[in-house]
Amino acid sequence: MENYTSVLKRLEKTAKEYTNIAPENGQFLSILIQSIKAQNVLEVGTSNGYSTIWLAAALKETGGKLITLEFDPKRAEEAQGHLREAGLDHIVEVRIGNALDEIPKCDTTFDLVFLDAEKDEYRRYLELALPSIRSGGLIVADDTVTMRDEMPDYVEFVFNTPMLHSVDIPLDDGVILSYKVGS
Ligand SMILES: C[S@@+](CC[C@H](N)C(=O)[O-])C[C@H]1O[C@@H](n2cnc3c(N)ncnc32)[C@H](O)[C@@H]1O
Repeated sequence: MENYTSVLKRLEKTAKEYTNIAPENGQFLSILIQSIKAQNVLEVGTSNGYSTIWLAAALKETGGKLITLEFDPKRAEEAQGHLREAGLDHIVEVRIGNALDEIPKCDTTFDLVFLDAEKDEYRRYLELALPSIRSGGLIVADDTVTMRDEMPDYVEFVFNTPMLHSVDIPLDDGVILSYKVGS
C-alpha cells in the first residue's frame, strides 16, 4: 500500500486527461471536511478517483464515510484501484450509475456534497440531494468560474434559495461554496 500522497502525486501527471480538480481544491475540501468533522460525504463525478482520494483521506481523520458516483464503469474501476493503492478503499463506496438515478437511492444524511460531473446537471443533482443534506451541511460545486455559462440554473438556484447561503471562491477553476440553513 502506497502512502495516499504519492498516489495523488502520480495522478497529477494525468490530471487534464481525467479532468481532475487542482490540488488546492483538494486541500480546500479536506479542510472543510475536517473542520466540520464530516461523517458522511457524497461526491458526484468520480473519474479516476483523484478528488475521491482527497475526500477519503480527510474522512479517515474524522472517522467518516464517502459515497462517490460515476457512470463510466472503466473510470469507476480505475478509481477503485487507486483507492486500494492509497489504502482508503474501506472508507469509500464507489457506486456505478447515473447520479440522477443514484442520488435518490442514497439513504444517508450528508454533511457535505461535492459536485463535479455534468455542469448542466448541477442544479438537478443538488435538488435531488438537498433533502438529504443536514442543516448546517455544505455543498461545493467545482468549475464555477471556467464553466459558469454551462450552469446558469445552478448559479441562480444557490444564490436565490433562502435555505442556501452561497459564496463564489476563485480557487483554480472556481468553486461555489453553499451552506444549508434550516431543513
Ligand atoms: C470532471 S470529472 C470528475 C473529476 C473528479 N471529481 C476528480 O477531480 O478527480 C466528471 C466525471 O463525472 C462523470 N459523470 C458525468 N455525468 C455523470 C452522471 N450523470 N452520473 C455519474 N457520473 C457522471 C464523468 O464520467 C466523469 O468521469
